[in-house]
Amino acid sequence: MCGIVGYIGKRDVAPLLLEGLQRLEYRGYDSAGIALHAGGKAGGLKTAKAKGRVRELEARLPKRFAGTTGIAHTRWATHGAPNDVNAHPHMDNDEKVAVVHNGIIDNASELRARLTAEGVTFLSDTDTEVLAHLVGRSQAETLEEKVREAVRHIEGTYGIAVLHADFPDRIVVARNGSPVVLGIGEKEMFVSSDVAALVSHTRQVVTLDDGEMATLKADDYRTYTTEGSRTSAQPTTVEWEAESYDMGGHDTYMHKEIYEQADAVDRALRGRIDDRFSTVHLGGLNLDARDARAVRRVKILGCGTSYHAGQIGAQMIEELARIPADAEPASEFRYRNPVVDPDTLYIAVSQSGETYDVLAAVQELKRKGARVLGLVNVVGSAIARETDGGIYVHAGPEVCVVSTKCFTNMVVSFGLLALHLGRTRDLSVADGKRIIEGLRKLPAQISEILANEGEIEKLAAEYADAKSMLFIGRVRGYPVAREASLKLKEVSYIHAEAYPASELKHGPLALIEPAMPTVAIVPDDELLEKNRAALEEIKARSGRILAVAHQVQEKADHTIVVPKNEHELDAILMGIPLQLFAYHTAKAMGRDIDKPRNLAKSVTVE
Ligand code: G6P
Repeated sequence: MCGIVGYIGKRDVAPLLLEGLQRLEYRGYDSAGIALHAGGKAGGLKTAKAKGRVRELEARLPKRFAGTTGIAHTRWATHGAPNDVNAHPHMDNDEKVAVVHNGIIDNASELRARLTAEGVTFLSDTDTEVLAHLVGRSQAETLEEKVREAVRHIEGTYGIAVLHADFPDRIVVARNGSPVVLGIGEKEMFVSSDVAALVSHTRQVVTLDDGEMATLKADDYRTYTTEGSRTSAQPTTVEWEAESYDMGGHDTYMHKEIYEQADAVDRALRGRIDDRFSTVHLGGLNLDARDARAVRRVKILGCGTSYHAGQIGAQMIEELARIPADAEPASEFRYRNPVVDPDTLYIAVSQSGETYDVLAAVQELKRKGARVLGLVNVVGSAIARETDGGIYVHAGPEVCVVSTKCFTNMVVSFGLLALHLGRTRDLSVADGKRIIEGLRKLPAQISEILANEGEIEKLAAEYADAKSMLFIGRVRGYPVAREASLKLKEVSYIHAEAYPASELKHGPLALIEPAMPTVAIVPDDELLEKNRAALEEIKARSGRILAVAHQVQEKADHTIVVPKNEHELDAILMGIPLQLFAYHTAKAMGRDIDKPRNLAKSVTVE
């Protein structure tokens, strides 16, 4: 979704900002724009905006568009259609102020009506424009005070960066609910809503808290609250390397990230396994053995792929720790006035740590006194900060809109948590050992699955003519089927639906015919015969079947054989070939794999 980049220093700002915007493209957007201090005698601000991709903005930059201080934005439309006018930055009527904004201003229409009555002319349909006018009309003496005054009128969420023609030596930024990260350089400063835009310039960052503002000058920054009192936010070092954001020889980020999974899982396990007690150490959990034993129920909340990871996680926790556990979309949970139980452990799962629905669910839970853990990829993200403790999944940066390696690392992290909870209860040393051995096998088994890419590519070509596909699985296999079906629809736009195999005869069997293939998840576990019976039912109705299984399935037209792990961990591996299946289907269809239509990497608004 929306992205912010800003720079103040000595370098030519437009190319720097364009590069920063390109780094944010993965988040999904529909238009882009830049504002800069023109400098020289005439001074003043200049802007350029364009609907479409960053390269269209680049093509449209005026000939003379130079400066050393500027802000830029990629927009994901919320208020008003995606077009040139609604693209950010927005200016006040005197064109002295330029604002870029992430988030949503809830009272924008009231403010718009009031400002219009006072004689302001609005050019765009956006909520952001009210901010530009509020800053422009403030009588305060400093830019900091003007911005502070403006945000006091705002209800809603914002991450903003502001330029003012009369204050060419600074950029003022503010945060409330939408990330703002400062990048600290040598005689130059950066700002962005996402470290992805900063790491090629600096690894020293300051993440603002909600209610915090900052002034950036070329050789200095200071942070303070929206009330004006100084804060002492200190820089931290970002671990993610700039190279992690390059494609590294792959044709898409999706392909690259699928291939990073063996290493990523290895990272998630590193330093956490405790062979002596056949358990794991999870340093950030903040849950001692007594707390862990007091947990009577686990509720996992997430959206999209992370919700599916949570479903597998719940299954693992029930199996290994025998604690009742379930997962629910965070977006549903927060709107149904949930009963919050003090003996329940809540876990918020999120790659970005920014997803608004998840964050709002966490805030609602905290307000009701619940204990909430985070299972998050982005270190220092909003959800990581709001939760009482948690597990970083260590997948490294994930750029493709659809999640692959992060999903796998989330599920592995749930495996670690389930083992930890299990070993504080009744899981035996022998079973703990067995699970640890299973976890250790995962990276090599992932590589084994990926080595089969050629065959999976052929299968994708075989099924790419389908208009719709059914995905089925049972118990451990069902969330795998759900995630695989989501992956296929996200990247290929083929309609796909997932069902528990046990529910086939209660409806979806009516759909079966040769033109409706079924992908079946068939692990070698206690349900193998039941799953085989489902394949028979489909075959009897002339349905085509692609099975993902531990051994070739006779009733299936094709089987992708995956290596067997411990039955509690099999779900981690069984979806991986289907990531490649979705990728190759989408590729054969010529889809924009890394940026599927209408989707965003991080959904930071409701
Ligand atoms: C968006 C993305 C999905 C992702 C979901 C949750 O919808 O397109 O791929 O699973 O958000 O994101 P999160 O960052 O919270 O895991």
